[in-house]
Amino acid sequence: MTDIPAELRRRLANSHAPYSGVRVAAAVETPDGRVHYGVNVENAAYPEGVCAEASAISAAVTDGARRVVRIWVASSLPGCIWPCGGCRQKIWEFSEPGCEVVSVSPQGERERHTIEALLPLGFRLG
Ligand code: THU
Repeated sequence: MTDIPAELRRRLANSHAPYSGVRVAAAVETPDGRVHYGVNVENAAYPEGVCAEASAISAAVTDGARRVVRIWVASSLPGCIWPCGGCRQKIWEFSEPGCEVVSVSPQGERERHTIEALLPLGFRLG
């Protein structure tokens, strides 16, 4: 079985974060057990940067995925970080009910919350 925290730690080196200095990596697990990764990709025009979670979701969708059962996130900051508001909505778009967001600290501590807890009353069309 894939050691997702180890894969995230490895990919933090691929993050492009010369402006904030904060490296973030994310993984998206789909119901068939596949895992798709992403990192944050910043830009000199600051608002054009992309979060790691958005990169991972784009990678998953590019490979044909439409449902997400778990999202993992790790960063170079101390402690566990949680997705920004925009990324919570991006996760919501594809999340199965009870979809977990698992945050892994540099020390290996894990904390988890459901997407429903992180984004109460999230927007859905219809
Ligand atoms: N960032 C992420 O990629 N994911 C998060 O959950 C929070 C923040 C990125 C955006 C920016 O490149 C850097 O971290 C600092 O805000």
